Amino acid sequence: MSAAPWIRASVRAVPPYVPGEQPAAGRRVIKLNTNENPYPPSPAVLDALHDAVDDRVRLYPDPEAVALRTEASRLYDVPVDHIMAGNGSDELLALLLRAVVDPGDRVAFPVPTYSLYETLVAVQGGVADTVPWPGDWSLPPALAARDAKLTFLCNPNSPSGTLVPLEEIDALAARLSGVLVVDEAYVDFAAATALPLVRRRANVVVLRTLSKSYSLAGLRVGLAFGGPALLQGLRTVKDSYNLNRLSQAAATAALGDQMTVRENVARVARTRARLVEALRALGYDVPESHANFVLARTKGVDQAPVAAALAARDILVRHFTSHGLGDALRITIGTDDEIDALLTALRAILPARA
Ligand SMILES: Cc1ncc(COP(=O)(O)O)c(C=O)c1O
Repeated sequence: MSAAPWIRASVRAVPPYVPGEQPAAGRRVIKLNTNENPYPPSPAVLDALHDAVDDRVRLYPDPEAVALRTEASRLYDVPVDHIMAGNGSDELLALLLRAVVDPGDRVAFPVPTYSLYETLVAVQGGVADTVPWPGDWSLPPALAARDAKLTFLCNPNSPSGTLVPLEEIDALAARLSGVLVVDEAYVDFAAATALPLVRRRANVVVLRTLSKSYSLAGLRVGLAFGGPALLQGLRTVKDSYNLNRLSQAAATAALGDQMTVRENVARVARTRARLVEALRALGYDVPESHANFVLARTKGVDQAPVAAALAARDILVRHFTSHGLGDALRITIGTDDEIDALLTALRAILPARA
């Protein structure tokens, strides 16, 4: 369908972002395609949601999400005025573009990465200045040299799961005159974070989400950490009541129960190690993953038929076609049973294809 003529020309030209398939209600699938957590959130989250469901829903939520930000401040040891809450980190990404990027400004990021960046840049009328990741997924030096108005670094990166060390991010931030956004959607599954940079470097914003390690994808909560002056710019362009009161209550409770997150992260890490080993035994190249997914690649062998054969068995994984990823599958770490089912299916599919 072509867009209506009233739509801005720059928006009409944007290929829409395609999220991973969300199966219809009632269809039973093993869902390993959008990096959700296979384990439930903290019981404290469900209690907080029950407590919050009453006639206060007629009132607007706290526009500043103070309780949530206070809990985040306590947990991460970052001052409250260095924290902003968003409707998922996707909203915070969009606000960053809206607040920082004028039409024609360059936005740099290594590719392949989270493909929403390209969509958001195009919608804003910015120019995506992409730098290919090298084969070993180390930080490409060209990224600093581009010195764009806004630079994105997804760390751990999606879809590779690979991690750039903190010292290199620090050095990158030091070289940039623009804003560096470190998207840490998956960082709880890794061992390092760029949060310490936020107080030292005025041009660094770190984004977190509660969709992955905290099992709250359905409630849409993200956090931005950055200097107060930078965050003030984001507040200017946000919807006043961007985060609804149920999500605020649930997210505050989720941050307050670190035990559940630690247990779930540890379970995912154990299953990840097993999956990586099994995929390598099947002949896939799998870079070491610091996230709740892995990238399984067979150089030059199109994986679309494998993804389709898995889908026919009601197992959803992610297959991308852009940036040379056609020969790869991105597989979310599910429960042990889900991963066993995936491996059984792959073993059945792969010899038949060979
Ligand atoms: C790298 C990255 N950033 C941000 C997001 C969006 O997270 P949220 O659910 O908080 O909008 C995702 C979701 O898959 C992601 O992969």
